Amino acid sequence: MPRSIILDCDPGHDDAIALLLAHAHPDIELVAVTTVVGNQTLAKVTRNALAVATIADIRHVPIAAGCVTPLVRPIETAESIHGESGMDGPALPEPTVGLDPRHAVDVIIDLVMASEPGEITLVPTGGLTNIALAARKEPRIVERVREVVLMGGGYHEGNWSAVSEFNIVIDPEAAHIVFSAGWDVTMVGLDVTHKALATPRVREAVRALDSAPARFVDELLEFFGTTYEEAQGFAHPPVHDPCAVALVIDPSIFTVERRPVSIELTGTHTLGMTVTDFRRPAPDDCHTFVATGIDSDRFWDLVVSALARY
Ligand code: BDR
Ligand code: CA
Repeated sequence: MPRSIILDCDPGHDDAIALLLAHAHPDIELVAVTTVVGNQTLAKVTRNALAVATIADIRHVPIAAGCVTPLVRPIETAESIHGESGMDGPALPEPTVGLDPRHAVDVIIDLVMASEPGEITLVPTGGLTNIALAARKEPRIVERVREVVLMGGGYHEGNWSAVSEFNIVIDPEAAHIVFSAGWDVTMVGLDVTHKALATPRVREAVRALDSAPARFVDELLEFFGTTYEEAQGFAHPPVHDPCAVALVIDPSIFTVERRPVSIELTGTHTLGMTVTDFRRPAPDDCHTFVATGIDSDRFWDLVVSALARY
């Protein structure tokens, strides 16, 4: 049985690849795509999601726009990495895929409440604003969702500050709501995504695929590689967001440990840190998990073989 997921994203180069992976992989049924302010404004990331759907011919999956701002804090975008459009590099087509008129938060609630308990997995790859608001608006989704597998955070690594990661620090209050709601949350953080590098071997494998979506991915990686080198000194760009989708598809690619995670909401230098407790075995009621290892070769084999289906 394929796993039903809602991808809540802010495309974003790596979000776009996560979306292409989720759509193409036979073990995933993509039931909705929801967008949230993050890498760029909501209008831009939503337009980008529709452009990706146009390129990959994703026509029967609702795509709905969500929150325009974080819960409490002002908007902070990632222009240094994703450019002015939020997905700079490839020429983007005028979308021919339409936007669902509902608010993303209502789409998440409606789909989860209409599904069987344990059927839908939420895969957030942006800030957690939509997910937090959905859990507040309709708390019954918390026990109905199978699990939340998110890209964000990191227990030993930061990128937006010394200790915090972008998706968490742009809306730490939302992250606090999501991590403490009581559903199972798996944090696929920088500790593993910084090992999912688009190396020359990966770039060649993508280039060998002859399809419009694969060429689009190649162009995304070209731009992403340049900004990641300039802004963060990476020789090859870390492709974060598909890691969360890959973990849902094949958890054996990752090592995952049950660990208590708390979100820092008040630290002067540590705002948005995902404070992870490794001191002793986690208590039985701990519902947070962290990815601690990744087999990057198998991860990329999974991504490239899914892209080959286009
Ligand atoms: C995360 O931040 C965004 O810029 C990326 O799309 C990814 O979700 C990495 O910190
Ligand atoms: Ca993202």
